[in-house]
Amino acid sequence: MSAYLKEYQWAQTQPESFWQSQSEKINWFEKPQTTLSLDENGIDRWFADGVMNTAWLALDYHCENGRGNKNAIIYDSPVTQTKQTFTYFELRDQVAKLAGMLAKQGVEKGDRVIIYMPMIPQAAMAMLACARLGAIHSVVFGGFAPNELAVRIEDAEPKVIMTASCGIEINKVLPYKPLVDKAIMDSRWKPEKVVVFQREQAKAELNNERDLDWVYEVDKALPHACVPVFATEPLYILYTSGTTGKPKGVVRDNGGHAVAMKYSMQTIYDMPQDGVFWAASDVGWVVGHSYIVYAPLIHGCTTLLFEGKPVRTPDPGAFWRVCEEYNVDVLFSAPTAFRAIKKEDPDGKLLKHYDLSKLKSIFMAGERLDPPTLEWVEAHSGKPVIDHWWQTETGWAIAGNPIGLEKMSVKSGSATKPIPGYQVEVLDELGEKLEANRQGFVALKRPLPPGCLPTVWRNHDRFESGYLSQFEGYYVSGDGGYFDEEGYLFIMGRIDDVINVAGHRLSTGEMEEIVGAHPAIAECAVVGVHDELKGQLPLGFVVLKDGVKVDDLQLEGELVGKVRNEIGAVACFKHALVVERLPKTRSGKILRRTIRQIADGEQYVVPSTIDDPSSLNEIENRLRK
Ligand code: COA
Ligand code: AMP
Repeated sequence: MSAYLKEYQWAQTQPESFWQSQSEKINWFEKPQTTLSLDENGIDRWFADGVMNTAWLALDYHCENGRGNKNAIIYDSPVTQTKQTFTYFELRDQVAKLAGMLAKQGVEKGDRVIIYMPMIPQAAMAMLACARLGAIHSVVFGGFAPNELAVRIEDAEPKVIMTASCGIEINKVLPYKPLVDKAIMDSRWKPEKVVVFQREQAKAELNNERDLDWVYEVDKALPHACVPVFATEPLYILYTSGTTGKPKGVVRDNGGHAVAMKYSMQTIYDMPQDGVFWAASDVGWVVGHSYIVYAPLIHGCTTLLFEGKPVRTPDPGAFWRVCEEYNVDVLFSAPTAFRAIKKEDPDGKLLKHYDLSKLKSIFMAGERLDPPTLEWVEAHSGKPVIDHWWQTETGWAIAGNPIGLEKMSVKSGSATKPIPGYQVEVLDELGEKLEANRQGFVALKRPLPPGCLPTVWRNHDRFESGYLSQFEGYYVSGDGGYFDEEGYLFIMGRIDDVINVAGHRLSTGEMEEIVGAHPAIAECAVVGVHDELKGQLPLGFVVLKDGVKVDDLQLEGELVGKVRNEIGAVACFKHALVVERLPKTRSGKILRRTIRQIADGEQYVVPSTIDDPSSLNEIENRLRK
C-alpha cells in the first residue's frame, strides 16, 4: 500500500489515534487527555483539555531548544529598499515586550485586538503578541476600505487596534491612520486605544489620548510571559466574504491549529526545519496567517515576509531574486502572481539570471491553478509545481499532493487528492454521493480535522445554516467539483456568490448591495467573469428606476467609485452596464450563472424556467457594444 494511502486510511478509520499521535509533535503545557469531544453546540473539538500557548510554540520553545540564534523572520521590502532579519531570540524578546505593552493597555486573555497593517515584521509581531496573551487577534487586510474595517470593528469589538502610519503599494504611499479614524468614527463600537507604528514614508498624526506611538510605548513596557490557554480557546478571528455584505468571522482555535500547522509543514510541504519558507501573500489573508506566520515558526524554520509584488517591484524577476538571495526551499503563492510574471516576462528571461538550485517546490492556492500557468511555471522553473485547495475556514489544505508522504503524479487542473484527515465527498442536491467524473457539491464529512473552524464569531447559527445544515453530517465547502476515476479531485469554482479576484475572495452579493443602493438603480446583478490575469473580475448589470435619465458612463463612474470606497480598490469593480431588464426565472430569481456564461462567451442552455428569453439577447448585445 502506498505511504499516502496508508496514512490516509489511518486518519479516516481511526481519527483519534491519528491526531493524538500528531499532537505529540508539539510542546504542550499540559498534554490533552481527550483527543476528540463535542462542545456545547454539538461541534467536534480537538484536544479540549490540552493547555498550551501558540506564541510559546512559535518562539520560546525554539529559543529553549537551541534555535534561538537562527533567523525566524527575513523581511525583504523592495518598496522601501529594506532588508532585515530577526532571530528567534530577537523576535521572542520583541514580541514579549509588545505583549507587555498591550497588557498595560488592559488587553487580557479573550479580548480582541484588530490588526490593520501592511506587510512589515511588526504585523507578525502584533499577531504573536496577542497570541502570547491569549488575546484574540483579527487581522484586516490593508487593501480594505474604512467601511469594511468598521464592519469588522463592530463585530469583533476590539479593545485595541494596532496599525501602521502607512502602507506602500507600487509607486504609492497609502496613509492608514485616516482610514482607521474614519472606520472608528463610522463604527458603533469604539476601541479604547489605537497603537500606531510610525513609518518614515508618511507619519501619522496622533491626536488624542486614544492614539499611542508603538515604539515609544514598547520601549517603556516590560516583557510579558506566555499565558496558558486551553486548546479550544480562540487564537484569532479572520473575516471572509460570504454571500451577503456582512463578512463571516471565521474562528480559529489554538491547539488544533498548532497541531495542523505542524503536520502540514512536514506532510504537505516536506519542509526541512533548517530551511526557508516563503509564502508570497499578505498577513491579511489566511495564507498569510498560516504560512507566513504560524506554521513556519511553529515548525522552527525561517519565514520570509515580502513587502512587494511579483511584478513592478521592480520587475518580474522579483520572486526569483528573493528565492536565490535567501535560499528559499519552498515558495507558495497564488496562480495570479505567476500569470502577472508570465505576462511581463513570457519567456522567463529574468528567471535565468538567478540560481534556483535550492528551491525544491512551488505551491499554489487561492484559486484553481489553470493548466497554462502550471505548464509555464513548470517549464521555466524546472521545479515541481503543486496545486492545493483550501479556504479561510479550514486554515490549511483540504486537498493537495502531500510530497512529505509521497509525491503523486500531477494531473493538470486537479488539486490531487484529499489530505489525510479530510474526508472529501462530492454530493448531489439530495446529499447522495456522486460517482466518478460527475460534478456536484464538494463536501467534507465530519468530524473536520484539527485547525478547521468550530464556529462563526458570535453567530453560531450562521455556521450551522451556512455550512452544516445542507447535508447532515457534512460541512459544505461552497465549491463545486468532481473526482475522476483515480480519485483525483478537480475543484471547478464556487457555487455561491463568492468570486476570486487575484486570489482575493470577494462577495458579489456585497457588491450588489452597494450598487443597488445607488438612487438611480432599480435592481442589479454582479457576476464574476473570466480574466486572463486576475482569474475573475466583477462585472455589473444594472436596471434603472423608471423615469431616471442618467448618462451611462457617468453612472458607471459613480458605481465604480462607490464599490471602491466601500469595499476597497482590491474589489477591482470597473464596469457596470445598463440593461432594460435582467434575465430571471418565472419565480423572479436572477439567472446569474447564465449571465456569467454569456459574458465568458461559453455555450449555455436557456433555462427552462426563464421568464423572458429575450432578456438574454439583451445581455449579449450589451456586451458586444
Ligand atoms: N493596501 C492597499 N491597497 C492595496 C493593497 C494593500 N495591501 N493591495 C492591493 N491594493 C490595491 C492596489 O494598489 C490596487 O489599487 P489601484 O486600483 O488603485 O491600482 C488595487 O488594490 C488592486 O490590487 P491588485 O489586485 O493587487 O492588483 P495589481 O494590479 O496591483 O497587482 C497582482 C496584480 C496579480 C500582481 C497582485 O494582485 C498580486 O500580487 N497577487 C498575488 C495574490 C495574492 O497574494 N493572493 C493572496 C492569496 S495566496
Ligand atoms: P479563501 O477563503 O480566500 O482562501 O478562498 C477560498 C476559495 O478559493 C475556495 O473556496 C475556492 O473557491 C478557491 N480556491 C482556493 N484554492 C483553490 C485551488 N487550489 N483550486 C481551486 N480553487 C481554490
